[in-house]
Amino acid sequence: MLDPVKQRIVADHTAITGRHDEPDIYGEPPDDPGLLGPDSISWEIHGDIASLAIAGPAAIVMEIMHPSVMAGVHDMSSYREDPFRRARNTAGYVVTTTFASTARAESEIARVRRMHERVNGVRPDGEPYEAIDPDLIGWVHTCIPWAVMAAFDRYCRPLSTDERDRYLAEQAIIGRLGGAGDIPETYADLQDYIERFRPHLAVNEQTRTFFEFLLTAPFGPKLPEPLARRLKLLTVQGSMSLLPAWTGELTGLRTGGPLDRTAAEVSLQLNVRALRWAFGTPAYKALALARVRGEAAPTVATDALAAAF
Ligand code: HEM
Repeated sequence: MLDPVKQRIVADHTAITGRHDEPDIYGEPPDDPGLLGPDSISWEIHGDIASLAIAGPAAIVMEIMHPSVMAGVHDMSSYREDPFRRARNTAGYVVTTTFASTARAESEIARVRRMHERVNGVRPDGEPYEAIDPDLIGWVHTCIPWAVMAAFDRYCRPLSTDERDRYLAEQAIIGRLGGAGDIPETYADLQDYIERFRPHLAVNEQTRTFFEFLLTAPFGPKLPEPLARRLKLLTVQGSMSLLPAWTGELTGLRTGGPLDRTAAEVSLQLNVRALRWAFGTPAYKALALARVRGEAAPTVATDALAAAF
């Protein structure tokens, strides 16, 4: 039984990102390593729920900085009508592809690919787009490990270049299955790749609408305005601080003066500590570890989470 404070933290976090504790997705069949396996560095990095949580906003912001991705999300996503479902399924993709059984990871990738086949249209500047474009899939794919790796390196433990290279190469397996074209597999490639995309990134009216959504979405603690907006802005700014300074300049989501920077840093630190303390080893990883060891699925993680509702 979790103590009430832990329970509150778990309940608040899983309300946004989903539970991801299903034994039939993560806990079976016995001995199945999944797409990457327990010795992968992705299992260590994505097993840190805090790194995923604090990297999330920055990854999303940078994905939609590409006007074609932004147009697809603006025209065809349910993010405004059903923000919780959208957030849960996006977070779920990252943990499913890393920790689920091979069959469940592959079926999730196939499901999302089928969704993307229906996403196409014309940007406000007249440029046609389609979500299955391997370059666009590649960009969205890359923003996730870019931000998550930075969060893990800063708030968990420093990563060596070799570890960064391994992580990107592992994630590239998933990216390619998802339909990505040329994607970075080493840290050096990542820097070049980002520089190549940088001239294509821009803020337009659709981006501003999305940013407004980020600052007003019904996520997080129920607080009166303008406090709620301020807290959301701090969360997004804190997340953006994981990435190079130019991303903050480009998006306008940089922290202002030293006071702002301190507040964003304190909020990140608190978030990281609270999430690690409350979750320990997340259920998806505990179940996956039991699966590869051929052990029975641990019911304790699932029960503890269930008790939070
Ligand atoms: C590796 C790259 C990508 C990943 C991992 C990804 C992830 C996802 C996931 C998990 C869903 C399913 C959401 C659900 O079940 O509700 C989804 C749907 C969708 N994706 Fe992607 N996506 C990628 C690339 C793109 C690109 C390039 C675009 C736009 C050009 C795009 C636009 C959309 C849209 C419009 C939906 C429809 C569902 C909705 O948002 O309500 N995605 N994507």
